[in-house]
Amino acid sequence: MVDQYWYQKSVFYEVSVQAFYDSNGDGVGDLAGLTQKLDYFASLGIDCLWLLPIYESPMRDGGYDISDYRKINPVYGSVDQFANLLQEAHNRHIRVIMDLVMNHTSDQHPWFKAAREDRQSPYHDYFVWSETDQKYLDARIIFLDTEISNWTWNEATQEYYWHRFYSHQPDLNYDNPAVIDEMFKIVEYWLEMGIDGFRVDAVPYLIERDGTSCENLPETHAILKQLRAFVDREVPGKVLICEANQWPKDVVKYLGRGDEFQVAFDFPLMPRIYMAMKKADSAPIRWAMEQLPSIPASCQWGTFLRNHDELTLEMVSEEERQFMWSEYSADRRYRLNLGIRRRLAPLLDNDRRKIELAHSLLFSLPGSPFLYYGDEIGMGDDVTLYDRNGLRTPMQWTSGNNAGFSTAGQLYSRIISQPEYAPSRVNVEAAEKEPGSLWHVIQKMIALRHDHTVFSTHNFTWIDCHEARSAVFRRESENETILAVHNLSDTVLHLEVPVTRAANYVDLFTSRQYNEDESKLLLALEPYQYLWLKALLG
Ligand code: GLC
Repeated sequence: MVDQYWYQKSVFYEVSVQAFYDSNGDGVGDLAGLTQKLDYFASLGIDCLWLLPIYESPMRDGGYDISDYRKINPVYGSVDQFANLLQEAHNRHIRVIMDLVMNHTSDQHPWFKAAREDRQSPYHDYFVWSETDQKYLDARIIFLDTEISNWTWNEATQEYYWHRFYSHQPDLNYDNPAVIDEMFKIVEYWLEMGIDGFRVDAVPYLIERDGTSCENLPETHAILKQLRAFVDREVPGKVLICEANQWPKDVVKYLGRGDEFQVAFDFPLMPRIYMAMKKADSAPIRWAMEQLPSIPASCQWGTFLRNHDELTLEMVSEEERQFMWSEYSADRRYRLNLGIRRRLAPLLDNDRRKIELAHSLLFSLPGSPFLYYGDEIGMGDDVTLYDRNGLRTPMQWTSGNNAGFSTAGQLYSRIISQPEYAPSRVNVEAAEKEPGSLWHVIQKMIALRHDHTVFSTHNFTWIDCHEARSAVFRRESENETILAVHNLSDTVLHLEVPVTRAANYVDLFTSRQYNEDESKLLLALEPYQYLWLKALLG
């Protein structure tokens, strides 16, 4: 029987088809290449792949600029190859979700091409127009480094069109029922092909209203609830994941009463993991956890350390943002919009202890974890590449030619070349061979998560050890109790962890046993050490 709550127990892996593996030697990763690598995900323990957009696109925003929602970008392969990927993934019990970009199209989409030519076109009303650029002025600009307004002038029809992202990405008009209809048909098309759901892009911005921020409006929620009902009617057991870079009180509304999205990314937590590690103080994580409202039993948070975008600093205070910028991107070239365009390993000084600690937090805090391709081997970034492209370089498979990614002479992107992160030092082949590698630690964490379902529940209790430099919490279910203990500092910590159940504990990583002493555990933690202590009951 299909477990309809599978997404609560899943470890997700965000993958760029372009960057993963090139099967036909044209310098660009493709669907057949990804299919060839499915055993890689199986051995890492991945439950679900999230594919960055693979639709037909002029590729001016990594494929988030779609020119045909029903076609696959031919450089990635054919519909048949996609169907084969799904089949082969499912054979290995790996699910596959796609990105659904509802908010906007590319300016190369035939709808927009027709709309911008002629006010009488039936497609004109698919987009948002205005005679002046003084409407919706309370809506912020998101791509601060590239855009100066959310309006762009259209010569042919003598009016402005609305866009929350790049000016080549006109927003669709969700006040027009025909647009909703079109989008639902697109959803149906891909669901019928057998995908397991969607990560839905940029959902807060579907509807605009004057005098508001044009984000999170009730009318937007109404459409998203319709979407969920539609998906459930079509094929039950599919997942909808919400990308809303917003505060928890607003994000939680996207879960509704369990009738909107099943999963929502927890954006405020992510930067606070980095903050806590830099300050050697758990207060930011604790604060982020305290902000989380309870969520419907059928829902889940989506947690992550990095993704394909800049590390966003939208859900922090001005002071926190300045702290993050000065500590994590003293080199200003790494700053982009309100964020930092760096990968995980370079952010954490390529220090194995810190990288493992961050993953321990990711995997032991509530929520379903999302990994970003390449971070499991500690890949680096390239600040000289445009915008976010430095985080989207080819996957490093071997130390050989083109990092084993492709046999082509020319690749879609340069490969990372700084000596510390170059393929000669950072590659899958070496990581798999070396039993002590980061890759193996992450594989182990994933396996432990699967073995201990308490990690997938909503249960979470912070444990106060009167030591700010520690982050200690309990995950508990009817049949198990696990304490996750973290030393966020670079010094040895002596901790007294109060325990409620009189029990001895075993560390799930090392099998070392820790005995409780009058309702407390006395622990000495090495710098950045973490333990997952399971209570031995009875
Ligand atoms: C989302 C995507 C980002 C894209 C933007 C516009 O934020 O994560 O990569 O640029 O939407 O589509």
